[in-house]
Amino acid sequence: MNAERIFFNEVATRDGFQIEPLFIPTDTKVALLDALSDCGYAKIEVTSFVSPKAIPMLRDAEEVMGRIRRVPGVEYTVLVPNMRGAERALESRADELNLVMSVSETHNLANLRMPREKSFAALADVVRLVNGRTPVNVSLSCSFGCPMEGDVPLEEVLRWGERFAALGVRGLTLCDTTGMAQPAQVTRMVELAQQRFPALQLTLHFHNTRGMGLANVLASVQGGIRRFDGSLGGLGGCPYAPGASGNISSEDALHMLDAMGYDTGMDIDKLLAVARQMPGIVGHEVPGQVAKAGRITELHAPPAEVSALLQAGALELAPSPAQGRGLV
Ligand code: COA
Ligand code: ZN
Repeated sequence: MNAERIFFNEVATRDGFQIEPLFIPTDTKVALLDALSDCGYAKIEVTSFVSPKAIPMLRDAEEVMGRIRRVPGVEYTVLVPNMRGAERALESRADELNLVMSVSETHNLANLRMPREKSFAALADVVRLVNGRTPVNVSLSCSFGCPMEGDVPLEEVLRWGERFAALGVRGLTLCDTTGMAQPAQVTRMVELAQQRFPALQLTLHFHNTRGMGLANVLASVQGGIRRFDGSLGGLGGCPYAPGASGNISSEDALHMLDAMGYDTGMDIDKLLAVARQMPGIVGHEVPGQVAKAGRITELHAPPAEVSALLQAGALELAPSPAQGRGLV
């Protein structure tokens, strides 16, 4: 039994909601966040302090931050793209600022409307403004490839990470913004990133766009990573990254890690109950699977005739044809 602790950051109300076409009312967001706060998360990314024109869904960021219940032990973080966002985040008493830029020049231009160097300069000013009063994390979009440029060299990702590490940030999140990462690449990335940034909190952020999400979580966790982002129901995606779709489903990832014996800190049953509300909240089916299937510990009753035979003690367990021939 491996009881190592996993620290999970729920991003459903930020990454999850930002791509949804219909505005989700503020009351619904606050109620969902309050329910999530009781599930055992280490961190919840509540919202974004970005331009309301860029992401109209999150135009109620101040109100949401002002109304949520803050549960001790849960960090409430927010996404910040520039100085204006940082000022708003500090005003809202965020526990952490999650600064964002892309390691792909093209995606940074599409998403943040500026070249990477300009983003870096703005974010460096933010780190200096915060001056250690609030922890700072940096999310590097497109760390495993860009949907417009293609490959982003691993060294390039590490180089941006190093520039932020030199500013004294607490953590780095390597984001697979459009689900381009594959497990061998992830293994290499987490090995090098942990060597290069031994003092930083390293988080992995995967999207399941090509069905590799949980395989990438597995590769990361086997490589020593203990921090993940995920989105309840598997919602999510960047509206400014062509072809983006849902994050890994938090409940599917946490169910897997829990089944493997990791200490997720989560109440999985409570989490699944909240996950089952997601289709009602967004008005459509969601990709998460465990909320539909139930946990692996939730068994089904056998068919009536099998139960009757079992009760009558009439069933001799015949050896299966595979026995004696090894696994098939
Ligand atoms: N919060 C609120 N408003 C902001 C803002 C912020 N953090 N940053 C800029 N604005 C406002 C400005 O006040 C200005 O408003 P006005 O048109 O009413 O005068 C307007 O946005 C444009 O400002 P400008 O500095 O020219 O920004 P821009 O148009 O170049 O946009 C960003 C830059 C970063 C603000 C914008 O691209 C953005 O918010 N992107 C985030 C996208 C995102 O969240 N993607 C998904 C997550 S990865
Ligand atoms: Zn994302």
